[in-house]
Amino acid sequence: MSLIETKDLVYLYGARTPFEVKALDHIDLRLEEGGIKAVIGHTGSGKSTLIQHFNALLKPAQGSVLFHGENINANKQTAYRTRFRIGLCFQYPEYQLFEDTVFADIAFGPKNMGMSEQEIDSAVRTAASYVGVGEELFDRSPFDLSGGQKRRIAIAGVMAMNPEVLILDEPTAGLDPQGRETILKMILNYRGVTGKTVILVSHSMDDVARIADEVIVVNQGKIALQGTVHEVFSHSAELTQMGLSVPEVTGITDRLRDMGCELPVGIFTVGQAADALADYLAGRIRK
Ligand SMILES: Nc1ncnc2c1ncn2[C@@H]1O[C@H](COP(=O)(O)OP(=O)(O)OP(=O)(O)O)[C@@H](O)[C@H]1O
Ligand SMILES: [Mg+2]
Repeated sequence: MSLIETKDLVYLYGARTPFEVKALDHIDLRLEEGGIKAVIGHTGSGKSTLIQHFNALLKPAQGSVLFHGENINANKQTAYRTRFRIGLCFQYPEYQLFEDTVFADIAFGPKNMGMSEQEIDSAVRTAASYVGVGEELFDRSPFDLSGGQKRRIAIAGVMAMNPEVLILDEPTAGLDPQGRETILKMILNYRGVTGKTVILVSHSMDDVARIADEVIVVNQGKIALQGTVHEVFSHSAELTQMGLSVPEVTGITDRLRDMGCELPVGIFTVGQAADALADYLAGRIRK
């Protein structure tokens, strides 16, 4: 049984109005438990609409969403319970911080779940440690902190609910390279420590190549491709047609290969490129 499954999922914005948009077009998708799964696709392809169905925030116009084989929209209770079991962090979540202190903001979700004071305290401390927010910041106002710190606090608020699945919509959007790097490391650390499934929506092929175990490509409300990073990025012509591109470093190594530098195909991260170049240069020196 899959962790999350959608069957014939259709979603319409502005249904039965002149502005009707079919955002999800008969999607059959299966996601198995574990690992980091990246959902990619051009702007407006339906990524955010899709993931908001995973935790019953949006209800299908047609079809169903199953979590551990159970229809999450079967009744109000299952939909409500799913919100806590599948934690969703929106695009630009820092705009949703509103409490007076960092601690209170991270504690908001756990409080809503009815955790005891002691459980809340421990959930907040654990989540703060996942995102690298030190306890010295707990009494500060979130509004005094940097953009990257605010984002991490918002993400910690979802982690603190101890969800089975963590969904992050564009967690690195709008951050500088250092802020992005911090978030990517944080996601890898969270996955390593908790072993939980992470679903990540991303525009950045470089980020996806670095941290994803599985890639799901959404195009015009349909699933265009699903597979490992290597499998999906091998379809570079199709990706380009869908307004996506392979990672920047893949373009560079392809070009070097065209120029006669014997590098293997399928280089998707800077680390892989560095290793391949070192091997190539060592080979040249030996010759
Ligand atoms: N609230 C809304 N009302 C009407 N149409 C919407 C609404 N939200 C999204 N849409 C439309 O639904 C389609 C899918 O949008 P969605 O936000 O899911 O795409 P996305 O892949 O997340 O895009 P982005 O990369 O820009 O975040 C688009 O055509 C979009 O214009
Ligand atoms: Mg979106």
